[in-house]
Amino acid sequence: MKNIALIGVGYVGLVSGACFADLGNKVVCVDINEQRITNLNRGIMPIFEPGLEELIRRNVKAGRLLFTTSYEDALKDADYAFIAVGTPSDVDGQADLRYVQMAAESIADVIDHYVIIVNKSTVPVGTGDWVADIIRSRRPDVPAFDVVSCPEFLREGSAISDFMNPDRVILGSTNPDAAEQVAHLHLPLRTTIMITDLRTAEMVKYASNAFLAAKISFINEIANICEALGADVKEVAYGMGLDKRIGHAFLDAGLGWGGSCFPKDVQALASMAEVESRHPHLLHAVMDINRDQRHAPLRKVEAFLGRDLRDKIIGVLGLAFKPNTDDMRDAPSIDIIRNLQRRGAVVRAYDPVAMERAADLLNGVEMKDSAYAVAEGADALVLVTEWNEFKNLDLERIKKSMVSPVLIDGRNVWDPVKLTELGFQYAGIGRGYEGRGADHPLDLKVNSGAVTVTVEDIQT
Ligand code: NAD
Ligand code: UGA
Repeated sequence: MKNIALIGVGYVGLVSGACFADLGNKVVCVDINEQRITNLNRGIMPIFEPGLEELIRRNVKAGRLLFTTSYEDALKDADYAFIAVGTPSDVDGQADLRYVQMAAESIADVIDHYVIIVNKSTVPVGTGDWVADIIRSRRPDVPAFDVVSCPEFLREGSAISDFMNPDRVILGSTNPDAAEQVAHLHLPLRTTIMITDLRTAEMVKYASNAFLAAKISFINEIANICEALGADVKEVAYGMGLDKRIGHAFLDAGLGWGGSCFPKDVQALASMAEVESRHPHLLHAVMDINRDQRHAPLRKVEAFLGRDLRDKIIGVLGLAFKPNTDDMRDAPSIDIIRNLQRRGAVVRAYDPVAMERAADLLNGVEMKDSAYAVAEGADALVLVTEWNEFKNLDLERIKKSMVSPVLIDGRNVWDPVKLTELGFQYAGIGRGYEGRGADHPLDLKVNSGAVTVTVEDIQT
């Protein structure tokens, strides 16, 4: 059992703290947001993350997980101090490190014994050294400490399982012994642990996020070409992914990537390159494609309803940047809705968990309590976030309740052939054969998550 101070109780800090406690450690989480800490001590969660509430409740009850606003209390017995505060974009697109700086200064003010400071926030290359400098200049007589970079790779919506079953743990430090001690904490996760230098570890995080974002932008570019040429991107992606060198992950064409990480991290990496007079051409293309993709719903609605959308009612299904989270940071829904409103459309929306957060960001959007309420009297529906509950809607009921049966499937969850047969005017993303119905050569189960055609299927 180790003593861990976890600084910042957001998506990463809270999940990491609860998981480390579940692995048998004693974790004290500290945050400057008093309301968050008061609520957590009352059992009220600051975020929606599947399984988190129960994990926290169990570990609080066992006495392994505590919440405080006092750095002194959090660091009193700590062997490790994990920094998991936010690193949003500043106005220039660089990572804003003010919260990391505050956390480093607060650590410097209170430590009275050797502590390993572990940076879990996503921070520009060189930040580990900078954190050490801040601590030393804030308090020249500070006790010995080490800084280790331990970037986090979890995804919102599956954060607990991602934390507990990582593909790898990356650790970087100027002191390999300190990195080894952090490695010990991760041994129960039974995964590959790579130990490298600080800067390389910091770079692995940015390069990984940028690569995943590039994969998505790549398939979205292919989707646009598929639309023009009459091919189906869903099947193209499946065919590509069968090549083990390519793989199936992150090849879902749609409305592009959003959230609290890819947008700021790709931008921050490009900014880091530019500061060093390097020209990150590919990163810029990746961002441009993503920006353009958010215009697809408006273009597709216009193709059915014409350019004048004044007083047309457009229903939006899903607001969060991805399913299973309430996170609205840089959610594609925000730009998509604003584009529709600019054309005069009346927008109404439903999301299973993100409506409260979304209401603060979206003016003039009527929030409804179900997908069916959104569809009632609508001229068009746009699916923006692929929550499971949208996958099996009663589409006949939806169609009957709409003024015109226009359905824009921004995440390709429905089968274009079936939707067209039901009488919808349907447009997905990159589905060049949509609407051709019986012309399609095989009755492919395109929505089963995998195209399941066997030799027998073809012979019958
Ligand atoms: P978040 O905004 O959800 O939470 C940050 C928390 O830090 C807030 O509760 C805030 O009050 C607290 N905080 C700010 N300054 C503080 C200080 N000086 N002392 C104590 N607490 C302080 O952020 P997040 O989404 O959890 O992201 C945290 C970091 O992890 C970022 O660098 C992000 O890029 C990275 N990351 C995020 C994810 C994700 O899925 N959200 C995944 C991997 C990595
Ligand atoms: C992403 C990474 O996947 C995590 O490894 C990383 O830790 C995290 O960023 C981070 O650094 O914060 P997250 O943003 O939570 O995780 O969610 P993802 O599942 O990666 O989705 C990101 C965006 O890409 C979403 O808007 C999603 O809709 C979109 N996406 C994803 C696609 O459009 N197509 C895909 O095939 C996959």
